[in-house]
Amino acid sequence: MKINKLIIIAGLGLLGVAIFFLFGFYNIAASDKHWKITEWGLAQVRDSSITRASADIVVPDNLDDPQYFVQAAGNYNAMCSSCHLAPNSDAGEQELRTGLYPQPPDFTQALSHDSARMFWVIKHGLKMTGMPAWGASHSDEATWKLVAFIRQLPTLDKKQYSELVAKYGGSHMPGGGHMPGGGHGDTSPHGEAAQGQSHSDGHSKNSPGKAEAMTQGHGSAENHENKATDTPKSKPHGHSAPH
Ligand code: HEC
Repeated sequence: MKINKLIIIAGLGLLGVAIFFLFGFYNIAASDKHWKITEWGLAQVRDSSITRASADIVVPDNLDDPQYFVQAAGNYNAMCSSCHLAPNSDAGEQELRTGLYPQPPDFTQALSHDSARMFWVIKHGLKMTGMPAWGASHSDEATWKLVAFIRQLPTLDKKQYSELVAKYGGSHMPGGGHMPGGGHGDTSPHGEAAQGQSHSDGHSKNSPGKAEAMTQGHGSAENHENKATDTPKSKPHGHSAPH
């Protein structure tokens, strides 16, 4: 008798939950904040998931090499600064970030970041947050450079940052870390023509011919990096610096 009552109460409870969620009573708006306890719970789930997934990632030992981290300046500026800010962000550039929930962390502030965790998040993204999985279109090498750059970002002032961005082009330059074939899954070792094509597909400031010529010869190294494991290389590649 007692057990039957419990089952009925549990069933009614489930029905209530189903009606609430399936009939539109839950407010999905980003402008409607979670309860504090829900926020806390989601953060726990996120942090434990990242901890487990990134446990075996080996961090390269050259992240603080001044020649290495600077190479991600253009990529960071093009791909990340609209959400994670930059030393030269003005109010207008914060519009995207302001409406995001959860708010992306401000990487111009000194935060305690674990490099392996950052690498994993950048590569795989975070569900239901707006944080993209950049590994879908970028090599592990390019991702480590971003990790290295974020570690140094709080030490850069407006002028230093702008100079680095001007000097070390964007993601669509040769050596910027884009996957051969523009990240559409073309990992064929003979993808040089396609690769030249993708870099000149309206992304590169160079003429198509020049972009193609500049991309030649990087193919084999990039294809190698492309065997996307979470195991990094410890040495940067000489070809990565834009010319
Ligand atoms: C469209 C907005 C958006 C863009 C663009 C974006 N991110 Fe994020 N990022 C987020 C959000 C949102 C979070 C998660 C915040 C949370 O979970 O509380 C996040 C989280 C992260 C984290 C984890 C932070 C931590 O506290 O450990 C890292 C690392 C990161 N992003 C790096 C990057 C990098 C590098 C780029 C550019 C290649 C980038 N993000 C581009 C929105 C963005």
